[in-house]
Amino acid sequence: MSSSEMNGLSSLSRSVRGVPVLITGAASGMGRATANLFADQGATVAVTDINTSGVDRVVADITAAGGTATGWRLDVSDDDGVTRVVDEVAATFGGLAILVNNAGIATFAAIGDPDYMETWVPAIEVLLTAQVRMVRAALPHLRAAPFARIVNIASTEGWGATRFASPYTAAKHGVVGLTKSLAVELGPEQITVNCVCPGPIDTAMTASISDEDKAVFAKRRTALGRYGSAEEVAHATLNFALPSASYMTGCILPVDGGLLVRNA
Ligand code: NAI
Repeated sequence: MSSSEMNGLSSLSRSVRGVPVLITGAASGMGRATANLFADQGATVAVTDINTSGVDRVVADITAAGGTATGWRLDVSDDDGVTRVVDEVAATFGGLAILVNNAGIATFAAIGDPDYMETWVPAIEVLLTAQVRMVRAALPHLRAAPFARIVNIASTEGWGATRFASPYTAAKHGVVGLTKSLAVELGPEQITVNCVCPGPIDTAMTASISDEDKAVFAKRRTALGRYGSAEEVAHATLNFALPSASYMTGCILPVDGGLLVRNA
Protein backbone atom coordinates (compact mmCIF):
# COMPACT_ATOMS: atom_id res chain seq x y z
CA MET A 1 0.00 0.00 0.00
CA SER A 2 1.49 3.38 -0.94
CA SER A 3 1.46 6.24 1.55
CA SER A 4 -1.20 8.05 -0.51
CA GLU A 5 -3.52 5.05 -0.05
CA MET A 6 -3.10 4.97 3.71
CA ASN A 7 -5.74 6.30 6.04
CA GLY A 8 -3.80 9.38 6.96
CA LEU A 9 -2.78 9.36 10.61
CA SER A 10 -0.31 12.14 9.87
CA SER A 11 -0.76 15.31 7.88
CA LEU A 12 2.59 16.78 6.88
CA SER A 13 3.87 16.01 3.38
CA ARG A 14 7.23 14.43 2.63
CA SER A 15 6.79 15.15 -1.07
CA VAL A 16 8.59 17.75 -3.17
CA ARG A 17 6.80 16.62 -6.33
CA GLY A 18 6.40 19.57 -8.68
CA VAL A 19 8.19 21.92 -6.26
CA PRO A 20 10.69 24.32 -7.89
CA VAL A 21 14.21 24.08 -6.44
CA LEU A 22 17.38 25.97 -7.39
CA ILE A 23 20.77 24.39 -6.62
CA THR A 24 24.08 26.22 -7.06
CA GLY A 25 27.23 24.36 -8.00
CA ALA A 26 25.04 21.56 -9.34
CA ALA A 27 27.39 20.37 -12.10
CA SER A 28 29.54 18.25 -9.78
CA GLY A 29 29.79 16.44 -6.48
CA MET A 30 27.19 17.14 -3.84
CA GLY A 31 25.33 19.71 -5.94
CA ARG A 32 24.95 17.18 -8.72
CA ALA A 33 23.84 14.43 -6.32
CA THR A 34 21.35 16.86 -4.79
CA ALA A 35 19.95 17.77 -8.21
CA ASN A 36 19.62 14.07 -9.06
CA LEU A 37 17.91 13.28 -5.75
CA PHE A 38 15.41 16.15 -5.98
CA ALA A 39 14.66 15.13 -9.57
CA ASP A 40 14.11 11.52 -8.48
CA GLN A 41 11.64 12.87 -5.91
CA GLY A 42 9.71 14.67 -8.65
CA ALA A 43 10.89 18.23 -7.96
CA THR A 44 11.37 20.73 -10.79
CA VAL A 45 15.11 21.35 -10.67
CA ALA A 46 17.10 24.41 -11.74
CA VAL A 47 20.61 23.04 -12.28
CA THR A 48 23.00 26.00 -12.02
CA ASP A 49 26.79 26.14 -12.13
CA ILE A 50 29.64 28.20 -13.55
CA ASN A 51 30.56 25.07 -15.56
CA THR A 52 28.22 25.07 -18.56
CA SER A 53 29.13 21.66 -19.98
CA GLY A 54 28.68 20.14 -16.53
CA VAL A 55 25.22 21.70 -16.26
CA ASP A 56 24.28 20.25 -19.64
CA ARG A 57 25.41 16.77 -18.55
CA VAL A 58 23.36 16.86 -15.34
CA VAL A 59 20.25 18.12 -17.13
CA ALA A 60 20.66 15.39 -19.78
CA ASP A 61 21.02 12.70 -17.09
CA ILE A 62 17.94 13.90 -15.22
CA THR A 63 15.87 14.18 -18.38
CA ALA A 64 16.97 10.71 -19.53
CA ALA A 65 15.88 9.32 -16.16
CA GLY A 66 12.42 10.85 -16.55
CA GLY A 67 12.97 13.85 -14.26
CA THR A 68 12.35 17.55 -14.83
CA ALA A 69 15.33 19.90 -14.97
CA THR A 70 16.49 23.04 -16.75
CA GLY A 71 20.07 24.31 -16.74
CA TRP A 72 21.50 27.78 -16.30
CA ARG A 73 25.09 28.97 -16.32
CA LEU A 74 25.42 30.87 -13.07
CA ASP A 75 28.53 32.31 -11.45
CA VAL A 76 27.45 32.92 -7.85
CA SER A 77 29.98 35.73 -7.53
CA ASP A 78 28.31 37.72 -10.31
CA ASP A 79 25.75 40.10 -8.77
CA ASP A 80 23.80 40.89 -11.95
CA GLY A 81 23.94 37.30 -13.17
CA VAL A 82 22.50 35.99 -9.90
CA THR A 83 19.50 38.31 -9.97
CA ARG A 84 18.86 37.64 -13.67
CA VAL A 85 19.10 33.84 -13.37
CA VAL A 86 17.04 33.58 -10.17
CA ASP A 87 14.28 35.67 -11.78
CA GLU A 88 14.47 33.56 -14.95
CA VAL A 89 14.21 30.34 -12.94
CA ALA A 90 11.13 31.63 -11.10
CA ALA A 91 9.55 32.82 -14.36
CA THR A 92 10.26 29.49 -16.08
CA PHE A 93 9.05 27.31 -13.20
CA GLY A 94 6.21 29.56 -12.03
CA GLY A 95 7.96 30.26 -8.72
CA LEU A 96 10.80 29.16 -6.49
CA ALA A 97 10.33 27.40 -3.15
CA ILE A 98 13.69 25.83 -2.28
CA LEU A 99 17.17 27.33 -2.53
CA VAL A 100 20.24 25.15 -1.98
CA ASN A 101 23.42 27.22 -1.58
CA ASN A 102 26.04 24.62 -2.43
CA ALA A 103 28.63 26.08 -4.85
CA GLY A 104 32.13 26.10 -3.43
CA ILE A 105 35.87 26.09 -3.99
CA ALA A 106 38.67 24.59 -1.91
CA THR A 107 41.27 27.13 -0.80
CA PHE A 108 44.42 26.89 1.30
CA ALA A 109 46.85 29.60 2.41
CA ALA A 110 49.11 30.14 5.41
CA ILE A 111 48.34 33.40 7.20
CA GLY A 112 51.89 34.65 6.59
CA ASP A 113 51.89 33.99 2.83
CA PRO A 114 52.71 37.17 0.89
CA ASP A 115 49.76 36.53 -1.45
CA TYR A 116 47.35 35.37 1.31
CA MET A 117 44.76 38.00 0.40
CA GLU A 118 44.52 36.53 -3.11
CA THR A 119 43.11 33.41 -1.48
CA TRP A 120 41.06 35.20 1.20
CA VAL A 121 39.07 37.44 -1.14
CA PRO A 122 37.68 34.76 -3.51
CA ALA A 123 37.09 32.32 -0.62
CA ILE A 124 34.88 34.80 1.23
CA GLU A 125 33.28 35.85 -2.04
CA VAL A 126 32.31 32.41 -3.40
CA LEU A 127 31.71 30.57 -0.13
CA LEU A 128 29.97 33.25 1.95
CA THR A 129 29.01 36.47 0.16
CA ALA A 130 27.51 34.47 -2.72
CA GLN A 131 25.09 32.75 -0.33
CA VAL A 132 23.89 36.18 0.85
CA ARG A 133 23.54 37.28 -2.78
CA MET A 134 21.51 34.17 -3.66
CA VAL A 135 19.18 34.57 -0.66
CA ARG A 136 18.58 38.24 -1.46
CA ALA A 137 17.75 37.42 -5.09
CA ALA A 138 15.52 34.47 -4.16
CA LEU A 139 13.68 36.11 -1.27
CA PRO A 140 10.81 37.73 -3.22
CA HIS A 141 10.09 34.37 -4.84
CA LEU A 142 10.44 32.38 -1.60
CA ARG A 143 8.03 34.82 0.07
CA ALA A 144 5.47 34.06 -2.62
CA ALA A 145 5.88 30.26 -2.42
CA PRO A 146 3.39 28.01 -0.56
CA PHE A 147 6.30 26.87 1.63
CA ALA A 148 9.89 28.05 1.50
CA ARG A 149 13.22 26.49 2.43
CA ILE A 150 16.83 27.65 2.33
CA VAL A 151 19.59 25.07 2.82
CA ASN A 152 23.16 26.38 3.07
CA ILE A 153 26.09 24.02 2.64
CA ALA A 154 28.91 24.77 5.09
CA SER A 155 31.42 22.14 6.28
CA THR A 156 32.87 20.63 9.41
CA GLU A 157 35.21 23.62 8.87
CA GLY A 158 32.19 25.59 10.10
CA TRP A 159 32.74 23.97 13.54
CA GLY A 160 36.47 23.40 13.81
CA ALA A 161 39.59 24.22 11.85
CA THR A 162 42.28 22.66 9.68
CA ARG A 163 45.74 24.20 9.48
CA PHE A 164 46.38 26.55 6.56
CA ALA A 165 42.71 26.78 5.63
CA SER A 166 41.73 30.01 7.42
CA PRO A 167 40.00 31.68 4.43
CA TYR A 168 37.87 28.56 3.87
CA THR A 169 37.28 28.00 7.59
CA ALA A 170 36.33 31.63 8.21
CA ALA A 171 33.93 31.56 5.27
CA LYS A 172 32.28 28.33 6.47
CA HIS A 173 31.95 29.66 10.04
CA GLY A 174 30.33 32.65 8.35
CA VAL A 175 27.82 30.37 6.64
CA VAL A 176 26.91 28.88 10.04
CA GLY A 177 26.37 32.37 11.48
CA LEU A 178 24.44 33.49 8.42
CA THR A 179 22.17 30.45 8.71
CA LYS A 180 21.38 31.12 12.38
CA SER A 181 20.80 34.80 11.76
CA LEU A 182 18.52 34.34 8.76
CA ALA A 183 16.60 31.57 10.55
CA VAL A 184 15.76 34.07 13.27
CA GLU A 185 15.03 36.89 10.82
CA LEU A 186 12.90 34.92 8.36
CA GLY A 187 11.23 32.64 10.93
CA PRO A 188 8.16 34.86 11.36
CA GLU A 189 7.51 34.39 7.63
CA GLN A 190 7.77 30.56 8.02
CA ILE A 191 10.83 30.50 5.75
CA THR A 192 13.20 27.94 7.26
CA VAL A 193 16.97 28.30 6.98
CA ASN A 194 19.22 25.34 7.79
CA CYS A 195 22.81 24.34 7.26
CA VAL A 196 24.43 21.04 6.27
CA CYS A 197 28.05 20.55 7.32
CA PRO A 198 29.65 17.77 5.28
CA GLY A 199 32.75 16.04 6.55
CA PRO A 200 35.16 14.25 4.19
CA ILE A 201 33.18 13.46 1.04
CA ASP A 202 34.31 11.85 -2.22
CA THR A 203 33.82 14.57 -4.85
CA ALA A 204 35.93 16.48 -7.37
CA MET A 205 36.97 18.76 -4.49
CA THR A 206 38.77 15.91 -2.73
CA ALA A 207 39.83 14.03 -5.88
CA SER A 208 43.47 15.13 -5.59
CA ILE A 209 43.81 13.28 -2.26
CA SER A 210 45.02 9.70 -2.83
CA ASP A 211 42.75 6.81 -1.86
CA GLU A 212 45.38 5.71 0.63
CA ASP A 213 45.51 9.13 2.33
CA LYS A 214 41.73 9.26 2.39
CA ALA A 215 41.53 5.84 4.03
CA VAL A 216 44.12 6.73 6.67
CA PHE A 217 42.41 10.03 7.50
CA ALA A 218 38.92 8.56 7.60
CA LYS A 219 39.94 5.60 9.82
CA ARG A 220 41.77 7.90 12.22
CA ARG A 221 39.23 10.74 12.38
CA THR A 222 35.68 9.55 11.64
CA ALA A 223 33.47 7.16 13.62
CA LEU A 224 32.36 5.32 10.49
CA GLY A 225 35.94 4.96 9.27
CA ARG A 226 35.31 6.03 5.69
CA TYR A 227 34.68 8.97 3.38
CA GLY A 228 31.04 9.79 2.67
CA SER A 229 29.35 9.90 -0.70
CA ALA A 230 27.78 12.96 -2.28
CA GLU A 231 24.41 11.24 -2.23
CA GLU A 232 24.57 10.69 1.53
CA VAL A 233 24.87 14.46 1.94
CA ALA A 234 22.12 15.13 -0.60
CA HIS A 235 19.66 13.17 1.55
CA ALA A 236 20.33 15.47 4.51
CA THR A 237 19.69 18.48 2.31
CA LEU A 238 16.45 16.97 1.02
CA ASN A 239 15.26 16.31 4.57
CA PHE A 240 15.59 20.01 5.44
CA ALA A 241 13.72 20.94 2.25
CA LEU A 242 10.62 18.79 2.77
CA PRO A 243 7.29 20.48 3.51
CA SER A 244 7.22 18.35 6.68
CA ALA A 245 10.49 19.94 7.89
CA SER A 246 8.43 22.98 8.88
CA TYR A 247 9.62 23.22 12.52
CA MET A 248 13.32 22.76 11.85
CA THR A 249 15.14 26.03 11.40
CA GLY A 250 18.55 27.33 12.41
CA CYS A 251 19.87 23.76 12.54
CA ILE A 252 23.55 23.17 11.88
CA LEU A 253 23.73 19.50 10.89
CA PRO A 254 27.01 17.63 10.56
CA VAL A 255 26.95 14.90 7.90
CA ASP A 256 30.44 13.77 8.67
CA GLY A 257 30.52 10.08 9.56
CA GLY A 258 30.97 11.11 13.20
CA LEU A 259 34.10 13.21 12.69
CA LEU A 260 33.00 15.97 15.04
CA VAL A 261 32.10 13.69 17.96
CA ARG A 262 35.16 11.46 17.79
CA ASN A 263 37.87 12.22 20.31
CA ALA A 264 39.92 9.05 19.96
P1 NAI B 1 32.83 19.95 -6.36
O1 NAI B 1 34.10 20.61 -6.73
O2 NAI B 1 32.56 18.56 -6.81
O3 NAI B 1 31.60 20.86 -6.82
C1 NAI B 1 31.58 22.25 -6.61
C2 NAI B 1 30.80 22.89 -7.75
O4 NAI B 1 30.74 24.31 -7.50
C3 NAI B 1 31.50 22.69 -9.12
O5 NAI B 1 30.58 22.18 -10.07
C4 NAI B 1 31.96 24.09 -9.47
O6 NAI B 1 31.97 24.35 -10.87
C5 NAI B 1 30.94 24.96 -8.74
N1 NAI B 1 31.40 26.32 -8.56
C6 NAI B 1 32.62 26.75 -8.12
N2 NAI B 1 32.68 28.08 -8.14
C7 NAI B 1 31.47 28.53 -8.58
C8 NAI B 1 30.92 29.81 -8.84
N3 NAI B 1 31.63 30.94 -8.64
N4 NAI B 1 29.64 29.88 -9.27
C9 NAI B 1 28.91 28.77 -9.49
N5 NAI B 1 29.39 27.52 -9.30
C10 NAI B 1 30.67 27.40 -8.85
O7 NAI B 1 32.78 20.06 -4.78
P2 NAI B 1 31.83 19.46 -3.65
O8 NAI B 1 32.69 18.68 -2.74
O9 NAI B 1 30.63 18.84 -4.22
O10 NAI B 1 31.44 20.80 -2.89
C11 NAI B 1 30.10 21.26 -2.67
C12 NAI B 1 30.05 22.08 -1.40
O11 NAI B 1 30.37 21.26 -0.29
C13 NAI B 1 31.05 23.25 -1.36
O12 NAI B 1 30.43 24.36 -0.75
C14 NAI B 1 32.17 22.71 -0.48
O13 NAI B 1 32.86 23.75 0.14
C15 NAI B 1 31.38 21.86 0.49
N6 NAI B 1 32.14 20.84 1.20
C16 NAI B 1 32.82 19.83 0.55
C17 NAI B 1 33.44 18.82 1.27
C18 NAI B 1 34.12 17.66 0.64
O14 NAI B 1 34.79 16.88 1.35
N7 NAI B 1 34.03 17.44 -0.65
C19 NAI B 1 33.43 18.84 2.75
C20 NAI B 1 32.69 19.94 3.32
C21 NAI B 1 32.08 20.88 2.57
